Amino acid sequence: LLKRSVVSAAKSPAQTRCISSSSSPRRKVAVLGAAGGIGQPLGLLMKLNPLVTDLSLYDIAGTPGVAADISHVDTTATVEGFAGEADLAKALKGCDLVIIPAGVPRKPGMTRDDLFKINAGIVKGLCTAIAEHCPGALVNMISNPVNSTVPIAAEVFKLHGTYDSRKLFGVTTLDVVRARTFYSVLKGLPVREVNVPVVGGHAGITILPLFSQASPKVQLTDEEIEALTKRTQDGGTEVVQAKAGKGSATLSMAYAGALFAEACLKGLNGVENIQCSYVASDITNLPFFSSKVRLGRNGVEEVLDLGSLSDYEQKGLEALKEELQSSIQKGLDFVKPQH
Ligand code: NAD
Ligand code: LMR
Repeated sequence: LLKRSVVSAAKSPAQTRCISSSSSPRRKVAVLGAAGGIGQPLGLLMKLNPLVTDLSLYDIAGTPGVAADISHVDTTATVEGFAGEADLAKALKGCDLVIIPAGVPRKPGMTRDDLFKINAGIVKGLCTAIAEHCPGALVNMISNPVNSTVPIAAEVFKLHGTYDSRKLFGVTTLDVVRARTFYSVLKGLPVREVNVPVVGGHAGITILPLFSQASPKVQLTDEEIEALTKRTQDGGTEVVQAKAGKGSATLSMAYAGALFAEACLKGLNGVENIQCSYVASDITNLPFFSSKVRLGRNGVEEVLDLGSLSDYEQKGLEALKEELQSSIQKGLDFVKPQH
């Protein structure tokens, strides 16, 4: 299950169940959209995580049942379910980390940007409540289109005077998880030892895996690089098509979301670690960009630069900028049209 952190191996729940969390601080984590396809397994995985002491499961409906179910799991975290806007303040109060997988998923033929119309408003509302009730919390944004929902969140927090760019993250861990899986399968490498940075954004060509920086390093032909890159970029669509109208990635996303949340909690607890995430950034000319970041007590402690890129990756980087910039602008304009 949560056997690996993105950069280092962690203990399995079977092992971690036996370890007292008494030396760790109390950490309240909320999942907003907790009755959904991602929210339910993500809630379960957070309940299994010994770094979580209080788990708050919020959705517009259905959360009392999900919370009752998850609360019977014999791990330390307390579990509370909250349903409907009147309960949102209670769900958020005292949170250290808020994970947002609320909103509609894609159907075949749709782009992530097609979700903007519905999800932008959902994210704006939830972030307004975060600014009011837990302004210091880290926010892990899963709702699509991530390239726009993160700028929306930033603008909402700015409007409320609570914006701290170190605390807002677009979750791109699933892209890293996919790149690792595809690379290890193709080259017959032990997946637990594999790492591949993925930079840019989280949609189509804005997803840029850096196989030239993959470890362990093995020889890849140009055709292999092209195929691995395309499969990573189209990983979400592969799942949307296979689910044939029943939504998008939920289980692998819950796994990836739990890995990233754990990395954030470790950082808050003083265990610094490096992950890829879509954050406020000045390593390119785009205001938000996914790259390796060093997580620590304040959230993002450092945005790492891109390192050396192959010609193929350099072209990919130039090619993604226009789309990513326009998705960012769309998000900014949604909250503050005069941008
Ligand atoms: P889903 O429809 O199964 O679940 C979404 C949940 O959000 C539902 O339970 C719904 O009631 C809830 N919701 C809607 N409005 C809400 C509100 N105002 N407050 C709280 N909850 C609300 O969808 P899903 O498959 O879980 O996907 C959720 C989102 O995650 C989608 O936008 C999807 O595109 C995105 N996603 C992102 C990634 C990523 O890598 N970042 C991966 C997979 C899916
Ligand atoms: C994914 O990458 O699986 C998600 O962004 C969901 C989607 O719509 O592809």
